[in-house]
Amino acid sequence: MHLTLEAQRRCKSYLLPGSIAIDATAGNGLDTLFLAEGVGPDGMVYAVDIQSEAIERTRAKVLQAGFADRVECIQADHGLLGSLIPNEHFGKVVCAMLNLGYLPHSDKSIVTQATTTIQALEAIEKMLASRSILSILAYVGHPSGRQESLEVQRWVDRRNIDSDQVGDQADYLVERLVDETNPSSPILWLLRKS
Ligand SMILES: C[S@@+](CC[C@H](N)C(=O)[O-])C[C@H]1O[C@@H](n2cnc3c(N)ncnc32)[C@H](O)[C@@H]1O
Repeated sequence: MHLTLEAQRRCKSYLLPGSIAIDATAGNGLDTLFLAEGVGPDGMVYAVDIQSEAIERTRAKVLQAGFADRVECIQADHGLLGSLIPNEHFGKVVCAMLNLGYLPHSDKSIVTQATTTIQALEAIEKMLASRSILSILAYVGHPSGRQESLEVQRWVDRRNIDSDQVGDQADYLVERLVDETNPSSPILWLLRKS
């Protein structure tokens, strides 16, 4: 199973014309393009990456596809997402994607880290609309990846509580996809908010 494509497949139905989405790790821009296509000309995608190279690659793809008007490319640490997205879009984001790790064919020392990943997730949680999806794809094969995956798992577990319990956190339906036969398989979490 190709988890990057699987993540897109599961997010697709949430992207309605005119909706708002976030790619918190823009990288090569593939998820950004997917989101931009889904939200249509009246929608908006915030594409964030810490690396200028990633933002340049993403911007080039967006321009080539004719999606420049609906994508804002932001070079920043996604740990700061809460201050990067306009307040009026809080509670209106229908889809947020994080494809963690490093930029393929680039500097492998620039890699997502547990602390800022969790900060990004905390910020995104405040931005999600009713009927929205959060997709997190993590890799355990690089040095800090296992720790990051464990912390994401703990963060997700705190939200994956019984639906008969009270409180906001009961709003998520959590799905976890992994190749159990492969100890270094990436892990995909999908959190659907009702
Ligand atoms: C696996 S790539 C993303 C692939 C991308 N979603 C795509 O479709 O091509 C991971 C990206 O996370 C970025 N990244 C690492 N740490 C980050 C941080 N703290 N804030 C934002 N982006 C970060 C890297 O620069 C890299 O481009």
